[in-house]
Amino acid sequence: MGNRSDEVLVTGGRGTLGRLVVRRLTAAGVPVRLVSRRPRPADAPPPVTWITGDQTDPVGMRAALDGVGAVVHCASSVRSKADLVGARVLVDAGAATGRPHVVYISIVGVDRIPLGYYRVKHQVEAVLQESGLPVTIQRATQFHELFLEATRMLSRSPLVPVPAGVWFQPIAADEVAARLVALVSGEPRGRMPDIGGPDVHRGEDLVRACLHRLGKRRLVVPIPAWGRTVSAYRAGYHRTRGPAHGRTTFTEFLHSTGAAA
Ligand SMILES: NC(=O)c1ccc[n+]([C@@H]2O[C@H](COP(=O)([O-])OP(=O)(O)OC[C@H]3O[C@@H](n4cnc5c(N)ncnc54)[C@H](OP(=O)(O)O)[C@@H]3O)[C@@H](O)[C@H]2O)c1
Repeated sequence: MGNRSDEVLVTGGRGTLGRLVVRRLTAAGVPVRLVSRRPRPADAPPPVTWITGDQTDPVGMRAALDGVGAVVHCASSVRSKADLVGARVLVDAGAATGRPHVVYISIVGVDRIPLGYYRVKHQVEAVLQESGLPVTIQRATQFHELFLEATRMLSRSPLVPVPAGVWFQPIAADEVAARLVALVSGEPRGRMPDIGGPDVHRGEDLVRACLHRLGKRRLVVPIPAWGRTVSAYRAGYHRTRGPAHGRTTFTEFLHSTGAAA
């Protein structure tokens, strides 16, 4: 990070990915600030400076960025367009403070899969790339954790519908976290090659494996869905073209979790 401060701000530092980034940074002795909309919980790691705030709040974000050398931007919500507002706020706050290196986590295929959430993430990429700030953008495939969480929710019903014929290339969130930590301690690199997990699986097989791990018996029903979004997934736009990067297989991930029904 050159002459910049060593302190790193992690937005969304309480989320699935963000908390792993925070854990890795603190383990490496890097001073960390964390932004979350929630107050500091009792079990928060002591070395972390906890900032309760919202990525869309210009005043709060300016204070959060003041004095940091870099940002790992993991805050995101699938339910609103707050991410786009948040990106503009981040850029303005970054320009007004020390022009920190911004490392942004995006998703493979955001430019080709016509989902509203992906469209917003693609716009966020553009806002950051055009900001003039030092920026690194890393797209990753779906996390292993996402399938386990989705299965947990879907298994509240006796039938679990899954779009038929879609193959995924999931990656362990902790391997993505390691990648982001490596990137944030280096020079800005613009858009990086996409990363994904070591194997490709049918969606229904991933869900069945999660159900097994959760100890739940449910009927998985592959649905012959169609439309532009499912077609884009069937075309594999959410998978990497080059080398995979991740090494932890989905099976190894499931075994490593204490998942229980
Ligand atoms: N999950 C995947 O499979 C996957 C794959 C590739 C890339 N990604 C990307 O990785 C990033 C992190 O994903 P994740 O799975 O870790 O998500 P997550 O668990 O939902 O974490 C996102 C965090 O963002 C915070 N957040 C949301 N809205 C906010 C706001 N307005 N202001 C401040 N904080 C806000 C939330 O923290 P608080 O509630 O504490 O405020 C939440 O914990 C996202 O950008 C996602 O698109 C995810």
